[in-house]
Amino acid sequence: MTKFFKVAAATALLVSSVVAADYTIKLTHVVSPNTPKGMGADFFAKRVGELTAGKVEVIVFPNSQLYGDGEEMKALKLGNAHIAMPSFSKFTSIVPEMQLFDLPFLFRDDNHLHAVLDGEVGKIIKDKVTAKGFVALDYWDAGFKHLSSNKKPILVPEDAAGQKFRIMSSHVLEAQFKTIGGNPQVLPFSEVYSALQQGVVDGAENPLSNFYTKKFNEVQTDLTLSAHGYLGYLVIMSESFWKKFPNDLKPMVLQAMKEATEYERKVAAQDDEDTLKKIKEYATQSGKLKVHTLTEDQKKAWQTAMEKIYPQFYSVVGEDLIKKVQAVK
Ligand code: LMR
Repeated sequence: MTKFFKVAAATALLVSSVVAADYTIKLTHVVSPNTPKGMGADFFAKRVGELTAGKVEVIVFPNSQLYGDGEEMKALKLGNAHIAMPSFSKFTSIVPEMQLFDLPFLFRDDNHLHAVLDGEVGKIIKDKVTAKGFVALDYWDAGFKHLSSNKKPILVPEDAAGQKFRIMSSHVLEAQFKTIGGNPQVLPFSEVYSALQQGVVDGAENPLSNFYTKKFNEVQTDLTLSAHGYLGYLVIMSESFWKKFPNDLKPMVLQAMKEATEYERKVAAQDDEDTLKKIKEYATQSGKLKVHTLTEDQKKAWQTAMEKIYPQFYSVVGEDLIKKVQAVK
């Protein structure tokens, strides 16, 4: 083959591999590709391609590139996007009971968390999401959230008084900050960096992966390893899209999701440790960030202060659901 034909053949192959897919799944999310959610999404895309022998292509749009907070679910309803993985708080307006997972100090550790999500409570919540016209797939992890500020170290609840904190749209999170004298402000994730940089808010609560991959460490002076709450996701699919999707290809997509969930959770657990190391290195090298570990007494003080809000949400999320979570071993 001459060079010309080689190039032409390679181009034809490339074009055919690009246009070969019979079906396209548009997946939208708001975080960086190098977070557990981002890596899980990419893994899912790869596995769908492999399992369907290229018949189905998943295109991943990270970083709110296609849709930001508040737009993702509408896009799924309209069939403009097909899969999203919003964090629990983003479901507040459609399934208020989902604010259950925003309650501070609800989960004892990862094992408790997964036992809840993969058990009866997780199923109850999924059914509520399904009833709202979505296909509820799997629960994915981000991690436990930690408090940060550019005003002063936040070691005890009183330190948060008067500070403005960015929150996701959740009444539980609003109450959580109000009860410690803070001033919560709802902002979409895509605006958090500039809001912290410009002083629109003083602080935030984030899992380490989001804190570091969005460079919040550069616009905060203090990070407290408070682990006071948990941030996770429910992967959802457009119902109208799934109804029309060919039945013979559905098992492969669901298998890819099953594998992606296992992978994502492993990545999340490992990533938390690795990211903490990177944040600490940044703190030492730059001298611009202090990372605070709480004493047992300080942890207790946070728990006592924040748990006071539970009764306010008995009627919203259901006291029985909270009790069910607490009863899970
Ligand atoms: C946030 O808004 O802070 C998170 O929900 C972002 C995300 O998806 O992890």
